[in-house]
Amino acid sequence: MFGASGQLGVELVRELRVRQYEVKALDRAQVDITNAATVENALAAYDAEVVFNSAAYNQVDVAEKEPQAAFQVNALAVRNLALACRQVDARLVHFSTDYVFDGTARHPYVEDDPTHPLGAYAVSKLAGELYAQAYLDHALVVRTSGVFGPGGLNTARGNFVELMLRLAGTGQPIRVVEDHVASPTFAPLLAARTIDLVQRGQAGVFHIGGGTPSSWFQFARTIFEAAGLEPTLLATNEREYRTPARRPKYSALSNAKMERTGLEPMPPLKDAVEAYFVERKRAATS
Ligand SMILES: NC(=O)c1ccc[n+]([C@@H]2O[C@H](COP(=O)([O-])OP(=O)(O)OC[C@H]3O[C@@H](n4cnc5c(N)ncnc54)[C@H](OP(=O)(O)O)[C@@H]3O)[C@@H](O)[C@H]2O)c1
Repeated sequence: MFGASGQLGVELVRELRVRQYEVKALDRAQVDITNAATVENALAAYDAEVVFNSAAYNQVDVAEKEPQAAFQVNALAVRNLALACRQVDARLVHFSTDYVFDGTARHPYVEDDPTHPLGAYAVSKLAGELYAQAYLDHALVVRTSGVFGPGGLNTARGNFVELMLRLAGTGQPIRVVEDHVASPTFAPLLAARTIDLVQRGQAGVFHIGGGTPSSWFQFARTIFEAAGLEPTLLATNEREYRTPARRPKYSALSNAKMERTGLEPMPPLKDAVEAYFVERKRAATS
């Protein structure tokens, strides 16, 4: 498991151990996946059947200034992993993003919809998908969206829920875009569904997004309701709130393919946010 300290990484490790698998959890300090020799040595040492890569460069706006850094981690490092997996006959499970789409669809995106990334981060993630599939016939690529998990309490990057709670603490009005819609996804469930797919021997591209397409404004409202907070929350839009990176306006993901394999649907966003607060309390006290 590479990128084991990220929001998703910690949940994959936890869920795999709950299911009694032996897991070698490697974070960036142990293995930097951009170093091909280190990746190759790690795989040679552990004789893994399945390799999970939840490491990523996720700074969508910063990537516009340093596209090479994003490409190193999100694309070329996936090539390192795919080549190393091929050498030892391991299955690769890799994660990608709703941002591979341009947001012009009028339906939740399905796996076969044409990709059209709008910026450096998105291009690098699409390249990662292609590298995983270029060298391996049975790679599993899971696209997800707006990931939030209690692991975000301990990561440098955090997540949208923690950002909202921090902003609420300032007492200032909070402005959130209402014209961008995604599928906010609870990390523990993303981990569980991904492992379900692996256990069923699935390969190819799958979407696993949260159960409710939601604008970031609606997501913020759901968070504050669950937290019992009442900050001044104002809706804004792409025109008023400019960012260095272009983002798809609508990037909700359809989980229909995942559900057709017999997996349980993802719960509504409200339930996932409530579960987040339960897990958050547990993570903070443990
Ligand atoms: N977060 C989202 O909203 C979102 C949305 C769509 C898709 N995704 C995808 O979902 C997956 C999991 O994301 P996440 O939310 O768990 O991200 P995260 O919390 O930011 O975790 C990413 C992890 O990758 C590690 N990492 C970065 N560069 C590395 C390198 N060169 N070698 C080894 N490890 C490295 C980071 O370590 P450091 O902390 O030391 O940098 C961090 O632990 C990623 O593929 C991501 O692109 C995420």
